[in-house]
Amino acid sequence: MTSEADQEGLSTHPFPDAPPGFVIRGVLWLRRALLRVADRLVPPDVVLFEHATGLAGTMLIGAAARLRLADLIGDGARTSASLAALTGTDSDALHRTMRALATKGIFDLLPDGRFRNNRLSEPLKSGKPWRTRAWVQYFASRSNVAAWADFDQTLISGDSAFARVYGQSIWTYFDAHPEERAQFAEAMMGLTIRDAPMIARRYPFGEVHRLCDVGGGCGTLLSELLIRHRHLTGVLYDNPGVLKSAASLFAGRGVADRVTLIPGSFFETVPSGCDGYLLKHVLHDWDDPTCVRILQVCRRAMTGTSRLLLVETVTERHAPTGMGPLSDVQMMVACDKGRERSEAELTRLLMAAGFRLARVYRAPTFSILDSRPEPDYGASGGDAATFH
Ligand SMILES: C[S@@+](CC[C@H](N)C(=O)[O-])C[C@H]1O[C@@H](n2cnc3c(N)ncnc32)[C@H](O)[C@@H]1O
Repeated sequence: MTSEADQEGLSTHPFPDAPPGFVIRGVLWLRRALLRVADRLVPPDVVLFEHATGLAGTMLIGAAARLRLADLIGDGARTSASLAALTGTDSDALHRTMRALATKGIFDLLPDGRFRNNRLSEPLKSGKPWRTRAWVQYFASRSNVAAWADFDQTLISGDSAFARVYGQSIWTYFDAHPEERAQFAEAMMGLTIRDAPMIARRYPFGEVHRLCDVGGGCGTLLSELLIRHRHLTGVLYDNPGVLKSAASLFAGRGVADRVTLIPGSFFETVPSGCDGYLLKHVLHDWDDPTCVRILQVCRRAMTGTSRLLLVETVTERHAPTGMGPLSDVQMMVACDKGRERSEAELTRLLMAAGFRLARVYRAPTFSILDSRPEPDYGASGGDAATFH
């Protein structure tokens, strides 16, 4: 997590800004349209066959990431024999693996049999800001794939496959498997590096003074907000194991003096004394009653004038577009009845926990739901268990 290569992009400078929202939306729309046109050029069976082999793609690209093939090839070209010698793999098996990847456009296979990096394999190198290598490895990890292998039972019961296969939640599993947790945290860091500049620009953080990032991971977003909004101080709140890598991240970004790290569980308590509470991609990990419980714990830490900001990949029930629906099924399999939610569903959770939605700030890949505590919400804080 904190090796030199992994610190890539974590300087005192802000992360690069994304293009304007309308450009992102337009490009994504155009890509979808072109892919649909491309699919129409061949019989539908061919398209379905390709989709059905997605598991092979996951495992092939996962192996390339795990073996650091893109790093080993570097700017030159290498045979599978030389790569096999460096990675302790079988030369023929590796050649066939990389040839299959090359048919997907990942690595070039040269006429002399050597492999070269190309536009799609470059992001698999270590130390890239978006940490695609970590994300690919997480997705192809044995624990994630084993959970997906039990998908049929999830479809019947609606319950998390991960919890069924491993007898524990993914978070408890990570406690006992710190390497996998570090990999997941780095994968999340990559996603957050992409979103953080837009979150920092989209919301009026000038109105907040002390911000608590609840379940804030290793501090990627909070560090960006502190860099871009110099008046802010912050509190990072997460499991103790996750916070281990946060101190060096804040130090590397030059904001360590404006942040406090507090370990703990948001099922029990959340630090008080902040006027802003942020939960980014936390609620999508949990079922509705658990979300209400987390929000109620936050509410108890808040004063009447503090605000709660939810950042989620808002996913409308009848809209099959964007990353939301795919992220949603990953939550269904890996998390405790986690799901992506619509704006109305998130608003219902907020109301059940004693909040009023003040405003929604929309961006192409996420929305920020800005809410305030209802003054007349009962001291008992409602009953999360009966939320349906
Ligand atoms: C999907 S990650 C999101 C991380 C971060 N907010 C981001 O968007 O990059 C969910 C986070 O919730 C944290 N988490 C899970 N259970 C928690 C608990 N009981 N108390 C505090 N944090 C918890 C995890 O450690 C993880 O960092």
